[in-house]
Amino acid sequence: MAQAALKAWPTGVKGKKNLPPLTGDKLVRECGLPIAELAVDAADVQGLVFRGYGALPECCYPLLRIEEPERGRAFVRAIVDRVSRGVPAARTVAVQIAFTSLGLSALGLPQSILQQFSRPFLEGMVGAHRSRFLGDTGESSPKRWEWGGPSTPPVHVLLMLFAESAPRLEELLAEMRRTWEAHGLSEIRILRTNPALLGKEHFGFADGISQPAIEGYHPVSSRLHLVKPGEFLLGYVNEYGLYTERPLVEAALDPFGSLPLDVEGSPRRDLGRNGTYLVFRQLRQNVVAFRETLDALTRNPDGSPNRQAREYLAARMVGRWPSGASLVEAPHGDDPTKARNNLFRYHHEDRDGLKCPIGAHVRRANPRDALAPHPGSERSLEVNRRHRLLRRGRTYGPELAPDAVDGEDRGLMFIALNANIVRQFEFVQHSWLVDPRFNGLYGEADPIVGMDEQNAFTATIDPVPVRCTGLPRFVTVVGGAYFFMPGIRALRFLGRLPTDTKASS
Ligand code: HEM
Repeated sequence: MAQAALKAWPTGVKGKKNLPPLTGDKLVRECGLPIAELAVDAADVQGLVFRGYGALPECCYPLLRIEEPERGRAFVRAIVDRVSRGVPAARTVAVQIAFTSLGLSALGLPQSILQQFSRPFLEGMVGAHRSRFLGDTGESSPKRWEWGGPSTPPVHVLLMLFAESAPRLEELLAEMRRTWEAHGLSEIRILRTNPALLGKEHFGFADGISQPAIEGYHPVSSRLHLVKPGEFLLGYVNEYGLYTERPLVEAALDPFGSLPLDVEGSPRRDLGRNGTYLVFRQLRQNVVAFRETLDALTRNPDGSPNRQAREYLAARMVGRWPSGASLVEAPHGDDPTKARNNLFRYHHEDRDGLKCPIGAHVRRANPRDALAPHPGSERSLEVNRRHRLLRRGRTYGPELAPDAVDGEDRGLMFIALNANIVRQFEFVQHSWLVDPRFNGLYGEADPIVGMDEQNAFTATIDPVPVRCTGLPRFVTVVGGAYFFMPGIRALRFLGRLPTDTKASS
């Protein structure tokens, strides 16, 4: 049973309103740069790297299996011109594609090339060590996953389909299905999303607000979120000042000259350039448990519910109010006028977590300037920039009405893009979100993403620190995989792999 040493709750929660997300398109329009002057080769990058397609609210994710290499390659050739690129355009639909390492192998990519991809991508998300590391244990154990687990069919291809309306999405899905069936691919499942919850997640909070900006593409006024392209795109310089690790191919293996040259000047071709790793996790949210726990923790002394206190504690757990306003900037109540503000720092403005708890989800997921050994310094921000994620997920399942209880499946199709799975996604998940000793705390993991049952959470409630204990796990993992989302030229190369290269060579 969840408990809190809570006495009184502050009041003053203002109204809530969600503002439209600022997309990459809008940022590019605002900067007014012709695309040719941008340092990133956006025309060769799949558009999801730059934008979440917020103008296309309908979305689904078909998961497919390639049955035969040549037919798989023919499928890639058939859809490559349908794949949306990073250049801004008026779109009614968008198509993106990514592959697991098994998928690249099933296309016939030689092992000598495949083995140059990163280790977690090659090993996959599932494995005893990785599951422990990521906190995928108990209810979240891959043994129980609905897809991507050891006892479910292997996933090779992830399609990401976006459309402006439901009929357009169904048309696009039907067109894609005709194409994959014509090339003998099998459908594993279609993951659906909920367009009505675009920009919002099931616990009731605005989502997708804080994103890194890519240097050379997204113009920004502040350095706080500006990150080198090599943090998100292979073949570019990263935050260490180095070109990313990436798979390079002997020129002889690229007879059509599909691939970009190696920017570092070797005679090889760059299969990684303009591609990125895509982390996909289907995260089921137990909204009933979340609400009941908050209710139990915030009841009035006479046992009646205290809705305002419930909202206050929930905001402390997330680190933002339902509108998206940060607790650092709006510590006493929601303020939708601050919903998109994202230039605050923690050490600078709230060193001891008196406004936004140290263990709040957003403060763990991106501690900004609060990192040891020199919190508040430029060095701290420099370290932080090496652990950023571009989040591109969508909500799935029906919204649960206030006070309603049902058994529906709902949650987040969590998608993160990064150039280095270990240093970015896995580090954030392991060392920040589920680390019980994060930033001087003890015995508590992220209150939203959680880890084990009986989690704890500490928040300061004007001015007394309170510790809630016995929190259940609100989020479980029900599927997932690591993918590679290639650049457009790399896609063409994959579609034209010579027939005599052996996947097992
Ligand atoms: C169902 C699970 C999750 C829910 C409900 C959730 C919810 C939220 C919300 C409401 C925000 C604040 C709005 C925003 O800035 O976009 C946020 C931010 C964020 N979340 Fe999550 N999240 C979940 C899982 C995760 C996971 C698994 C990760 C990483 C491994 C993650 C990483 C982040 C990051 C990096 C931010 C931005 C923090 C910042 O830059 O200030 N989230 N999340």
